[in-house]
Amino acid sequence: MFKDNELKGKTILVTGGGTGLGKSMTKYFMELGANLIICSRKQDVLDATVKELQEATGGNIIGIACDVRKPIEVENVIAKGIEEYGEINGLVNNAAGNFISPTERLSPKAFDVIVDIVLKGSYNCTLLMGKYWIEKKIPANILNIVTTYSWTGSGFVVPSAIAKAGVLTLTRSLAAEWAKYKIRSNAIAPGPFPTQGAFSRLFPEGLKEKLDPLNRIPLKRYGVHQELANLAAYLMSDFSAYVNGEVVTIDGGEWIYNAGEFTGLDAIPSEMWDMIEKQVRGKK
Ligand code: HXC
Ligand code: NAP
Repeated sequence: MFKDNELKGKTILVTGGGTGLGKSMTKYFMELGANLIICSRKQDVLDATVKELQEATGGNIIGIACDVRKPIEVENVIAKGIEEYGEINGLVNNAAGNFISPTERLSPKAFDVIVDIVLKGSYNCTLLMGKYWIEKKIPANILNIVTTYSWTGSGFVVPSAIAKAGVLTLTRSLAAEWAKYKIRSNAIAPGPFPTQGAFSRLFPEGLKEKLDPLNRIPLKRYGVHQELANLAAYLMSDFSAYVNGEVVTIDGGEWIYNAGEFTGLDAIPSEMWDMIEKQVRGKK
């Protein structure tokens, strides 16, 4: 979508950048000339992604193991990133944990593990990057990956829903508070995009046969990673310099489709509409 070098001069930290959507965003940012830092818990996964993306793009990338729940480990990633590139000016809070379960089956620890990765992980990275940016007077950009149930809520993924709602509120709150430091804050809310991490935990095979997630999407297809990477690149670029505090949905119309009172009438075959019209027309 963009010209080469559109992100030249940007150094971006992508949490959870070794896999899935984080990896796809990372690859496109590199293709556009940005320097990348990726982190997650598994160094071997990061090493494989670093090698693959260096070979594919010829760009700059380092991978540093870090649990985003632990501020000291986040500080280490930031320090190593600055040491490598001189400066960091972008953050994508993408790391997450999630699984489906009836809420009453969850232990307090099961709530903790998801909320800590998603919410605490996002505010740890945001806070520690923000302190550095404010102290060094570096204009910067935060992009948070949330979901559409950040505002609708959702059963069966309640720890994730409450944590993502918190991340959306963090996005909007800091868009207001930190704009004076030239720090922007935006979010993307994706619908289903096939990744091993999400689909294995949220749409397991047996269940997918009964409840096909495609039935909920009016465009009748999943998102393509490059489509999300395009949007992320726009929000991380100077083209979006006046966009601040926004959440952009990229879900093929999914949440609106399922929220609409009468959208289910989609199921009525066109030949039935003559009969229905007769019943409805002229009713006083
Ligand atoms: C009930 C469960 C459970 C399950 C784990 N727990 N899985 N409870 N049902 N299916 C409980 C455990 O019993 C334990 O509590 C507690 O949760 C912690 O589990 P651990 O396995 O010890 O945690 P850990 O090894 O840190 O693994 C974290 C994880 C794992 C979140 C559970 O799935 C993970 O590492 N995920 C990272 C990647 C990921 O989830 N990606 C998907 C993001 S998709 P007790 O009390 O028993 O000790 C996404 C998309 C949203 O967010 C929108 C889609 C449209
Ligand atoms: P994914 O591949 O499982 O990505 C999650 C990443 O987070 C992994 O790389 C994981 O690596 C990392 N991570 C987990 N816990 C961590 C921790 N404590 N510290 C550091 N890193 C940690 O799944 P994905 O589908 O690409 O999800 C990426 C983002 O998109 C998430 O925010 C998710 O909520 C969001 N999203 C996805 C979809 C979708 O359909 N795919 C839809 C809506 C929103 P380690 O396990 O090695 O740490």
